[in-house]
Amino acid sequence: MSLCYLNGQFLPLEKAAVSPMDRGFLFGDGVYEVIPVYSRQPFRLDEHLGRLQRSLDAIRLANPLSAEAWHSLVARLIAAAEWDDQSVYLQVTRGPMAIRNHAFPKVVTPTVFGLVEPLVTPSGEQVEKGVAAVSATDFRWLRCNVKATSLLANCLLRQMAIDAGCAETVMFRDGILTEGAASNIFVVKDGTLLAPQKNHLMLSGITYDVVLELATQYGLPTEVRDICDAEVRSADELWLTSSTKEVLAIVTLDGRPVGAGKPGPVFGRMYRWYQDFKQTVMRGHG
Ligand code: PDD
Repeated sequence: MSLCYLNGQFLPLEKAAVSPMDRGFLFGDGVYEVIPVYSRQPFRLDEHLGRLQRSLDAIRLANPLSAEAWHSLVARLIAAAEWDDQSVYLQVTRGPMAIRNHAFPKVVTPTVFGLVEPLVTPSGEQVEKGVAAVSATDFRWLRCNVKATSLLANCLLRQMAIDAGCAETVMFRDGILTEGAASNIFVVKDGTLLAPQKNHLMLSGITYDVVLELATQYGLPTEVRDICDAEVRSADELWLTSSTKEVLAIVTLDGRPVGAGKPGPVFGRMYRWYQDFKQTVMRGHG
């Protein structure tokens, strides 16, 4: 039985309940974070809490907890879990309303929820062989930089991949690469790592930042700029990144091989750098 946090209380997940009038339930009016935890050490916690703050600011919801309170909440969830590698989920919604009404309630009582689950990273086989992806037009809203709980479009887009027996959907808006349904996307061309520039059309990934930092640290050339459809389709390598998937090679896109159709040499290097970086986190220096 796993412990969760709900509105000031730690309790078994089975005992946790929220009102059906919660705006998170009725409108998807909330924001969230997913934080990987390795050997009970949270990965880039301050960066995740910083992004949570930016998401809250964007939806005009005051942060219900101080930084210290978030830290102790996360520490308590991590300590109570039975696994060493975990995924901590944090969510804040605009809370319950008396009657269903789109306008913000006059008095807002946010709902704060925290949950810890085992961290499921890609299997050895997925790392070694890579995964397949499909492409789609990005039909989400224009505030994709907000990590909002309203994920209907992302769920529909991810399901396109699942229905095609693939792992992820790579999205384009007006012919420009945005991101995956639940990941950021990188391209390798002629030894240079290309990354889409952060804007309102994609989530500013914590893993994305780590990957670019590692590239700089190890001298891999990078370009952060708009990447067009043709560049993705003629890439030497294509990667996806996220807190739970880490760095993973995409080896086919819409059934056609990406580069040599297997994880490329630059991926191999980045994967190793990323695993090494995780070790520093586990030693408490992340
Ligand atoms: N999703 N883009 C989208 C749309 C995402 O949902 C995610 C992560 C990312 C990668 O962000 P990060 O590196 O900070 O995890 C990019 C999480 C894992 C989820 O919704 O489960």
